Amino acid sequence: KEIFLKDYKKPDYLFDTVDLEFQLGDEKTIVTSKIAVSPGNEGTSSPLALNGRDLKLLSIKINGTELKSDKYTVDPRHLTILTPPAGVFNMEIVTEIYPQLNTSLEGLYRSTGNFCTQCEAEGFRKITYFQDRPDVMAKYTCRIEGDKTLYPVLLSNGNLIEQGDLEGGKHYALWEDPFKKPCYLFALVAGQLECREDSFVTCSGRKVTLRIWTPAQDLPKTSHAMYSLKEAMKWDEEVFGLEYDLDLFNIVVVPDFNMGAMENKSLNVFQSRLVLASPEAATDGDYAAILGVIGHEYFHNWTGNRVTCRDWFQLTLKEGLTVFRDQEFSSDLGCRTVKRIADVSKLRSYQFPQDAGPMAHPIRPLSYIKMDNFYTVTVYEKGAEVVRMYKTMFGASGFRKGMDLYFQRHDGQAVTCEDFYAAMCDANNAQLPNFLQWYSQAGTPTVKATSSYDEGSQTFSLKLSQEVPPTPGQPMKEPMFIPVAVGLVDSTGEDMPLTSIYSDGMVQTLSNDGHPVFTTVLQFKKTEEEFIFNNVPERPVPSLLRGYSAPIRLDSDLTESDLYFLLANDSDEFNRWEAGQILARKLMFSLVADFQQQKTLVLNTKFVDGLRAILRSTSLDKEFIAKAITLPGQGEIMDMMSIADPDAVHAVRTFIKKELAFQLKDDLLAAVTSNRSSEAYVFNHDSVARRALKNTCLAYLASLNEPDVTELALNEYKSATNMTEQFAALAALSQNPGQVREDALLDFYNKWQQDYLVVSKWFALQATSDIPGNVANVRKLLAHPAFDMRNPNKVYSLIGGFCGSPVSFHAKDGSGYKFLGEVVLQLDKINPQVASRMVSAFSRWRRYDETRQALAKAQLEMIISANGLSENVYEIASKSLAA
Ligand code: ARG
Ligand code: ZN
Repeated sequence: KEIFLKDYKKPDYLFDTVDLEFQLGDEKTIVTSKIAVSPGNEGTSSPLALNGRDLKLLSIKINGTELKSDKYTVDPRHLTILTPPAGVFNMEIVTEIYPQLNTSLEGLYRSTGNFCTQCEAEGFRKITYFQDRPDVMAKYTCRIEGDKTLYPVLLSNGNLIEQGDLEGGKHYALWEDPFKKPCYLFALVAGQLECREDSFVTCSGRKVTLRIWTPAQDLPKTSHAMYSLKEAMKWDEEVFGLEYDLDLFNIVVVPDFNMGAMENKSLNVFQSRLVLASPEAATDGDYAAILGVIGHEYFHNWTGNRVTCRDWFQLTLKEGLTVFRDQEFSSDLGCRTVKRIADVSKLRSYQFPQDAGPMAHPIRPLSYIKMDNFYTVTVYEKGAEVVRMYKTMFGASGFRKGMDLYFQRHDGQAVTCEDFYAAMCDANNAQLPNFLQWYSQAGTPTVKATSSYDEGSQTFSLKLSQEVPPTPGQPMKEPMFIPVAVGLVDSTGEDMPLTSIYSDGMVQTLSNDGHPVFTTVLQFKKTEEEFIFNNVPERPVPSLLRGYSAPIRLDSDLTESDLYFLLANDSDEFNRWEAGQILARKLMFSLVADFQQQKTLVLNTKFVDGLRAILRSTSLDKEFIAKAITLPGQGEIMDMMSIADPDAVHAVRTFIKKELAFQLKDDLLAAVTSNRSSEAYVFNHDSVARRALKNTCLAYLASLNEPDVTELALNEYKSATNMTEQFAALAALSQNPGQVREDALLDFYNKWQQDYLVVSKWFALQATSDIPGNVANVRKLLAHPAFDMRNPNKVYSLIGGFCGSPVSFHAKDGSGYKFLGEVVLQLDKINPQVASRMVSAFSRWRRYDETRQALAKAQLEMIISANGLSENVYEIASKSLAA
């Protein structure tokens, strides 16, 4: 059933308090829910419909009396009380559930023997009958009862107010959460866990106990997560004035978890990968992800929990905003430019394709069949870009004012994206015409920029035009408000001071408290607009969309030499990287054409020189250099072709890599040698940057497949004292098929087979490999004893990794598609959310040639005709076929 945003209605009934009681058992768990109900609108007499799934109803009482069976109806998805009493009443519902059989990992389930919950978006209905929607906010208590030896630790939201022993080897704990919350923020955890404990004193002097819970053997691996949590708490106070509001904050680690983590009030739940780290077993990438996600979930305490969403269409209200906040947090703790580059790359490689395909949706979707399918890169990452645009326009202090007003107005409420927009605009006395279009129009806008310099009048004109492409259900689009940050670079490479701009019949004088302005943000809000910069003494090179000021595709008339000039000189480091990327993309396109016409490929020497200069720079940040010498991904290039040609793109990218490695060999070798270090591992920007540069160079060198570099990579592999370097060396060695590769992979597995997170990396490395015939390898790995279809982490590594490898997944004989088709059907029986994420790999099937189209389509049709298909997979598969 499809649900529409336009059909939103306020709930007829409110829940004021909810008292839950769980009797945890191995065969069955009994849940008692006592709810104080009050009418939502005056004089409601409508039936009270409660959501429920996979529940066995044991009893229902209204105001203490058992409800007769003709007073309610039960179907597989609802319990409906036909004529609830007028006014306030109490309701008590007892249900029986079977967490040990729940492989969907939503609701209450078991993971490695422990109980744990995941309620967002609509999992609470698998625990008890409830109005399972975020605008129903109540105060909760939760009493948990269970065997004391099996489940020594019993956790829920809020404060522990009572605990004690019971007969028969059982014990109980009673938790009370003083804050009103929607049911999706409810959580329960029970099991054999131990904690690392620490504390944080908030700005107003509240001492908060911090606990990270894991199985005992993993405790040593929680120190980075604890560090991240304390940094996040401090950062939110400093940057947003937001303080933690309880005396206890818990994080629990579970190996089986569908998403990354969950922000349940004071009881965050994380999948292991995003908490556990040690230098030997986790990479810099893992450390960075932990920092970001620990921050993300913590920041939800205000953006998500204290102020929540009215309905699930508003998801980006909390997710876009919280992703933006975690990006800023990571920027402030690391390197801003590098973080920005990473975030923009992610947007381009994952969100742009989604926005151009059959699943394209606005950051606030208009309808859904299964909400879980809308926890997307669009809602999250494009949503974060939309939040970032407010900051770009209002500045840090204006943005802060908007946030303050948002909390002042909406603390304790379930609100909409318009409420956020209104707070931002009102706090800054501003209007942003057409800005709300970002919430309702899908598709990546394309902005064309053409410029001209007039020496006589000393003016520089920039003409912008925009086009938002049609997307499913949205053939026509309105112009959007697009902030375009611009600087003008003079012939010496310096930014020119910008004094005044003429546009829209008005002259705007630019000044920054008497200081010159070097970057200005143009407010581009019509289909076409011209901006004329006055007092420009010479022809400048414009640096457009600095810092990537809007999530668009920019198509400018900058020449190649302009781009090389910006690559070498732009004061905006993001745009230096960007200039390099544009040049690389152009180069790749022209080589793809050559490849398709069977011409010999030759690499442009200017490009090699440009990268050499970057590589040799002693002033640039090393991680920046690593990013700047990395070519755009294959997906990004395929995405821009009229018919995506995975073989050509792969051949070209491989060719450029090898050719660069050949021509820059000495510089690359020097970079590897000079960036070795014998110091103990630390996770800070300088060390991360050093390792990033060294590893990037090693990967280039390994592509040569020459004995001396193989020797070098083997040495790096053997001498590495941390996973970042060890894994990079392994990846380098496994680029080329052969005995060296096989031996290294086997050695690595033997070393790490006890550590399931490292084994997941090992799966991913092989799954993403582009060595010939890899489909068969991946099939073999599916039968590997360490693989387990029920663990999402392993599925994402092996199956997800495989789908991300263009050459193998899109193998022309269809073997990759066939493999995925089979896996999706198997997975769907176990875990629909995970199956649905995997089936998405098919969604862009129309982008390929006819042979591939037919093969992929056949798999989608096979999937959709399967018996008992989940709504999750159905939604993705049917939309992919329809568009
Ligand atoms: N709110 C979580 C986050 O921090 C995501 C949980 C979504 N879970 C799901 N099954 N849809 O992003
Ligand atoms: Zn989130």
